[in-house]
This record gives sequence, structure tokens and C-alpha cells, in this order.
Amino acid sequence: MSAADKATHYQSLTIKPVTPHIGAFIEGLDLTRIESADLQTELRRALFDFQVLFFRDQHITSEQQVRIAKIFGDPDKVKSLFPRHESQQSIEKVESSPDGYRYGNDQWHADVTFSNNPPTGTVLYAHVIPPHGGDTLWASATAVYRALPPKLRDYLESLEAIHSIENSGWAGYFDQLKDGQAQFNQTRIDHPPVVHPVVQTHPVTGEKIIYVNPEFTTRIKGLPRQQSDALLNFLYQYFLQPEYQVRLKWAVNTLAIWDNRATVHYAVADYDWQERKLSRITFGEDQAF
Ligand code: SIN
Repeated sequence: MSAADKATHYQSLTIKPVTPHIGAFIEGLDLTRIESADLQTELRRALFDFQVLFFRDQHITSEQQVRIAKIFGDPDKVKSLFPRHESQQSIEKVESSPDGYRYGNDQWHADVTFSNNPPTGTVLYAHVIPPHGGDTLWASATAVYRALPPKLRDYLESLEAIHSIENSGWAGYFDQLKDGQAQFNQTRIDHPPVVHPVVQTHPVTGEKIIYVNPEFTTRIKGLPRQQSDALLNFLYQYFLQPEYQVRLKWAVNTLAIWDNRATVHYAVADYDWQERKLSRITFGEDQAF
């Protein structure tokens, strides 16, 4: 079924798909008024149908952001390394300023795949956005799987990959701190490398997913370095194809929710580290899926 057809099968939501594979705006919905169980069921379904949902003009408090995340999963199992909101510990502050620290979100990644139990999804809400730039892109890892030659898909099903923070944006973040090397060494101990299958099956939609990303995947287990790099780079080329992507131009009070299993994303670092402030909640906890 096409994205446009899917969008017509909702009673309570007005859905405007952005591309055939990924992304949709939900229009006319106030996210502070979503108590109805039917509405919540449709929101969960929409997340799986469209992989990333965008909502404009949402005026929400941090408590309300937590309540929104809870519709989709448990927000209390935060695994990432961002600074936390002062009173809402499940909220991470994804913030840049000219004299602040730089977080390396400008690499394709799914959130926290360096963990055995990455979150199932993420809610990101914009407080301050630079006048130009600072967009976020998502790519559909299910569309990428479907685009691959069938024989390659079969081969990939037999493979596992190592994920770690070793070459991630976190390494560059710790470089900026006075005792950063010691902190990075401790973080490595706290987050040893983990193994995930290269192809996963989405537990809700049953769709196959290419589950590697350039930020956290370090190598394919059991392959020589050159072969592992070549195969991973081949797969990453698909994430770069605009056909499988959607791009959000943020505005203050825009909220995005994504399916962290079915997508990878990239925060475009073209705004010269002007003020950009978002609050992020990851929710749910995957077992190897
Ligand atoms: C993230 O990588 O989760 C944050 C994305 C962004 O800052 O746009």
C-alpha cells in the first residue's frame, strides 16, 4: 500500500506523508490533548506506518513531553550520554551554542545501538533553532533493505556486526573536556562493544531492516577489515540516496518522533554552532530483535 493510501486509513489523525518511503506530518493535533485511547492507538500505528512523524506548533512542557513519549514506550531507560534536564531525568538536552560543547550528531546513526538494548524510538522537541540550517535527515532502513539485490540480502542475513562508541561523535565530544580522555576511557568500560545482527526483523511490522550505521558500527564480525569496510560502505551508500530520506526543517515548537529500529538519522552541522536547543527522550528498550 502506498503512503498516500495508508494515510487515508485513519479515523482520528490527519496525516500528510512527505515521501513515499518515510516521514509524515500530523496536522491539526494538539499533543497536550491526546488522552483518547483510540487516538493513542492511531499514533502508535502511524509511527510504524511512516517511521518518522512531525508535529508543528506544539506548546508543551517537559512533563508533557514525557507523557507523549509514554504513549510509545517506557522513557525511563535512558542510555545515551547527553546532559540531563534538571528536573526530568528522562529528558536529554541536545544543545549547541557558540561557546558550548559540540555533540557529534552529524553522522548517520540510530540512537544508542552501542547498547545491547537500544531504544525503540525517540521524541525530539525544538526550543531554539538557528535562523538557517540545523535540519535533521532520516533514512528508511526498511526501504534500503528492499532496494538491495535478493542474493545480497540472503548473505547479509548470515552476518552480525559490532557496535561501539569507539569511533562515534562521543569520542570528539570527550576531546573537548579537560579530563576527557579519562572520561572516555571510563565510558568505554561502561559501554563495551556489542553485537547485533546485520538484518533484523521489525517486531511490530515484520519488515526487514538493515541494522548497521556509520557512527556506531565498527565492523562485520568474522570478515577481514577490508571486506568489512567495503561491505559497510556499500550499505551506507543507500542511506545517502535521497530516495530513501526525508529532511525536516525545524521551527521552534516542532516535535518529531521516530522509530529507532526502522530508521537512521543525521543532524546537519551547517549552522556554525549557533544556538540550537532541543530536548530528547528515548523510549522503549529492544531486546535483540
Ligand atoms: C539525535 O541524533 O538524536 C539528535 C538529532 C538532532 O539533533 O537533530
